[in-house]
Amino acid sequence: MPTHQVTVEGFGTFEVEEGTKLVLAIERAGFDISHRCGGNARCTTCRVQFHSEEPPMRQKEHDCLEEDGVLGQFRLSCQSRVDRDMHVTVLMRASEQGWDPGIEVEE
Ligand code: FES
Repeated sequence: MPTHQVTVEGFGTFEVEEGTKLVLAIERAGFDISHRCGGNARCTTCRVQFHSEEPPMRQKEHDCLEEDGVLGQFRLSCQSRVDRDMHVTVLMRASEQGWDPGIEVEE
């Protein structure tokens, strides 16, 4: 599997195997990104802002963001798979929100 570089603003850059969910890649690198609903496109706490080209958006993510009126403001890292080098800012760090990261996200 090819790998790509993921950079989290204020944290660092790490190598990630292609196809990995972005939220899992960030968590495995040691950053406490929130994922309160367990990666089901419901809570939006896994939100990230892209500074690099964004991956394609699937219908589930689109519907969730549209329903919440936040389409175009941020992306859901639980619905994005690493398919290129990525540079993001994590918008809801668990330790800054005063909660634990949330339900475990499946592969
Ligand atoms: S929307 Fe809940 S973890 Fe992504």
